[in-house]
Amino acid sequence: MEKTQLVFGPYPPSAPTSSLAQDQIFFDSAGGSQALGAVADAIATHFLASNVQLGPTYAAARRARANYDAAFAAAARFLNCRPDQIVFGPSTTQLLRNVSHALDFDDANDDADDAPSSSKRDEIILSAIDHESNIAPWLALAHRLHLRVTWWNPTTSSSSSLLTTLADPSAPATGIAALVSPHPPRLRPPHLHPLRLPAPFPRLRSLGHFFHDPATLEGKLGLAAASYELLQAVPAVVDYLGGPDGPHRRAADANQTAVLRPFLAYLAASPDKFTVYGGTDLHPARLPVVSFSVAGWSSRRVVEEVEKVSNIGIRWGHFYAPRLVGEILGRLEDGLDGIIRVSFAHYNSVEEVERLITVLDSVLSQPAPTSNA
Ligand SMILES: Cc1ncc(COP(=O)(O)O)c(C=O)c1O
Repeated sequence: MEKTQLVFGPYPPSAPTSSLAQDQIFFDSAGGSQALGAVADAIATHFLASNVQLGPTYAAARRARANYDAAFAAAARFLNCRPDQIVFGPSTTQLLRNVSHALDFDDANDDADDAPSSSKRDEIILSAIDHESNIAPWLALAHRLHLRVTWWNPTTSSSSSLLTTLADPSAPATGIAALVSPHPPRLRPPHLHPLRLPAPFPRLRSLGHFFHDPATLEGKLGLAAASYELLQAVPAVVDYLGGPDGPHRRAADANQTAVLRPFLAYLAASPDKFTVYGGTDLHPARLPVVSFSVAGWSSRRVVEEVEKVSNIGIRWGHFYAPRLVGEILGRLEDGLDGIIRVSFAHYNSVEEVERLITVLDSVLSQPAPTSNA
């Protein structure tokens, strides 16, 4: 097989300051990828040159303001929207909670003592396949405002792919208020997330100070400001990726396919041993995230055995989606401990995947140590 030519650019794997230089194979990009060297540099530069408040007119403060605005401009380029449609927050969990607190529903729902009959109440349709950060705020909102909650549990076996499930014929026919994912690029800066919403925002009350501009999403949901230092990372990430046809983006996409192919083929070759959630097809919408379980094995035990004999970082559990992993996939009952997740980023190589396959083969050639699987 032709070896993928990855443009490593600011990720020199041998540089002593690169996190990739350590003796660790990172197969957990769904939880967060390693940071670019340019990101670390940008954050350090902020502390050295512009670590001041945004409002003043002296030179360092003007630099700070310009850098802050540059982050919004870069994110807007990447998300194909205007800067005023973006808010940054410390986590997806926080951003969605903020949106849920700001959303304005029919006043009739608002009065706890005079709750309207159920047929008149606004309704929230929740999908159980989501990360809990996108479920808990809406359940709390429904509780506060006496809204009806309807659960949509997709029926297809490929429920791990949001794209697949939105095409699911069992999806509710009523409109789904789609929030643009605050988690778009898995190549992400430090723990900092953009949220984009379509403007204007007539159904959003402002959580901000009364004198902040309610015509911008930041004014409404930003609660003063995002982390100045972490925002410095955003232009570095967007510059690295370039547009959809930028060389790093194309190399990353090609690498994603190259590393997924052998791993999916390996799992697909032993259907009696591996159950793969989301299927083993390598289609264009496939994200580089593979979730599976091993017949006769606890997921935790597989990961622990892999760690005993290698430097490969993979994970087990429910990944903050216990409704999906438990109620839908049935992997949290009777002592089961969830699924195994292997996720790739553009700096992973086919050689690393082959190493994982060799290690899994060796680990799973032992007798299964538990019947919890
Ligand atoms: C799909 C998805 N949504 C939401 C989250 C929650 O992110 P945060 O830790 O930023 O709240 C994660 C975390 O990994 C995630 O994978």
